[in-house]
Amino acid sequence: MLKDKRIILGITGSIAAYKSAYLIRLLVKKGAEVQVVITPAGKEFITPLTLSTLSRHPVISEFFSNRDGSWHSHVDLGLWADAMLIAPATAATIGKMANGIADNMLVTTYLSCKAPVFIAPAMDLDMFAHPTTQQNIDRLRSFGHHIIEPTEGELASALEGKGRMEEPEKIVTLLEHFFAASHTLQKKKILITAGPTYEKIDPVRFIGNYSSGKMGFALAETCARRGADVTLIAGPVSLSAKHPKIKRIDVESAEEMYQAAIKTFPEADAALLCAAVADYRPETSSADKIKRDDKDRMTLHLTANKDIAASLGALKREGQILAGFALETTDEIRHAQEKRKKKNLDFIVLNSLREPGAGFRTDTNKISILDKQGEITAYPLKSKQAVAEDIVNKLETLWI
Ligand code: PMT
Repeated sequence: MLKDKRIILGITGSIAAYKSAYLIRLLVKKGAEVQVVITPAGKEFITPLTLSTLSRHPVISEFFSNRDGSWHSHVDLGLWADAMLIAPATAATIGKMANGIADNMLVTTYLSCKAPVFIAPAMDLDMFAHPTTQQNIDRLRSFGHHIIEPTEGELASALEGKGRMEEPEKIVTLLEHFFAASHTLQKKKILITAGPTYEKIDPVRFIGNYSSGKMGFALAETCARRGADVTLIAGPVSLSAKHPKIKRIDVESAEEMYQAAIKTFPEADAALLCAAVADYRPETSSADKIKRDDKDRMTLHLTANKDIAASLGALKREGQILAGFALETTDEIRHAQEKRKKKNLDFIVLNSLREPGAGFRTDTNKISILDKQGEITAYPLKSKQAVAEDIVNKLETLWI
């Protein structure tokens, strides 16, 4: 799977840089072409000579070659790569990547890179647990990058905890799985809805919900990475979809989402409806801000929105696959089964707000998939990226 794959290996100033030598050996043995980009601090931990010997390419560290003054093009390098792996990634480099501080060759290359990015943090346990580091990691995750979680154990500081860079063998296996999965949806067109909808009350207020779009965007990235052409219809969220195979349509209300979905669905091979669509909207929305005027009460009259899932379910043609989500708080399985049937879905992904770490806004989710044949598969709590992989695996079984 790694044969002829072009991998930029970013190395930063961590004691775990010694593992990079073995990582390069494993990648080269599998047939990958490895180009090392190392930060100045990284060179304090491992010599460029070791790295260039193992990778069979000169190591890049500066913007210009010291030998002949020629320029190292971070843009060309970013376009050349099939993947960029930063291992080890220090807290400083993670912070620079999350905030676009391009003051070295590695971060500049990262900003020019169109390929999937893998980040293997390595640092002391307190640095890793610090809210700043965690926020930066969350930010990188929200860009669709793959965070290779550090493991627990003895650290260079002699303390015990989470912060050890994952072992090279595991990193290589992860890359292999990633590339193995990258063609399975070639030529498929997939429609995905994500995020909340906002139903306008007046120019400053709306009825909405807590959906962040993370689950739907993770699905879009997963499908695109596997080769599908994705149309992502997104409600108001502050996420970005980076993959070039994702065409994003931004909408605000349920009606706008419905119009975009109805237009896109006939061409789609499958639709995954992850958006938290408002079931009701105000009957009228005021053109001006509604004044309080010392009223003790205010009544909003609501009217039902169209059910996008049910409308697509009614239009579904032979061979098209339609899947939705059920967000429940009680009697979860029964409600999810009823929704699947009512909306003519091939399967439904159940998540319950009673499960810690599941549902809105979290980076994790805990789901069960209920299909047409009555089969129920429960999954453990996982990152939303990993959950998206499980859902797309289920989708693929329906095409086999
Ligand atoms: O965005 P995140 O913060 O990551 O959170 C993810 C999530 C919790 C929003 C997601 O995992 C999820 O559960 N999405 C569906 C939420 C929802 O509205 O569920 P529901 O049980 O009310 O709706 C059932 C299905 O019908 C859903 O597929 C929904 O998209 C669809 N629907 C609902 C109403 C409507 N008018 N049109 C629809 O298409």
